[in-house]
Amino acid sequence: MSKPLGLAILISGNGSNLQAVIDAIAAGRVNAEIKTVVSDNREAHGLVRAAKHGLNTRIFDRHDYDSRKQFDLALQQYLQSVNPDYIVLAGFMHILRSDFILEFKHKILNIHPSLLPAYKGLNTHQRVLENAETHHGVSIHLVTAELDAGPVILQASYPIEKGNRVEDLQTTGRQLEHKMYPQVLGWLGDAKLTIDGGRPFYEGALLEKPIIFNS
Ligand code: GRF
Repeated sequence: MSKPLGLAILISGNGSNLQAVIDAIAAGRVNAEIKTVVSDNREAHGLVRAAKHGLNTRIFDRHDYDSRKQFDLALQQYLQSVNPDYIVLAGFMHILRSDFILEFKHKILNIHPSLLPAYKGLNTHQRVLENAETHHGVSIHLVTAELDAGPVILQASYPIEKGNRVEDLQTTGRQLEHKMYPQVLGWLGDAKLTIDGGRPFYEGALLEKPIIFNS
């Protein structure tokens, strides 16, 4: 087996996606090593999950820095020292500045609860319900300087049932998310998925559109 993929996982809250990745690595489904878990929130439950598994954790609290730029610089310097193959945003609520994204160009992944390019940004569940959409979804994409706009690698769609509330969409979306990050990281770890010049290739072929997740 090739060398495990080195990951830095960035969180802000519950860390259920982090847990899914931890479990997938432990089960041998993902050839990766979590080099660090970073949180911008001291109270994030994900930190408890990480500590329980003996993972290296670091807190970067925005309040400890005079500006967003200084915060990003401190985080950048730390991640440079860790030198991960990929930075995995898993519910990380801080919007990274373009300098940071350029520094780790083509190495940052994000999971977003919508069928990108539809519903970028926050409160996606609320907005799809307000617009009476029939379908909603989850996307894993490469991060570029424009918010939620980088190439989508894997996407799952699910129907919105009559009477669904935000919590229902959250539950359905999370169940998919917990399978999707391990899927993508598993492919990267096996070099089935590669990123070249900011473009994703699956089994050597350029991904012209996202892979549809099949659970
Ligand atoms: C997920 O729903 C993800 O789509 C969004 O933030 C949430 C993180 O959840 N970006 P968790 O902290 O992994 O439980």
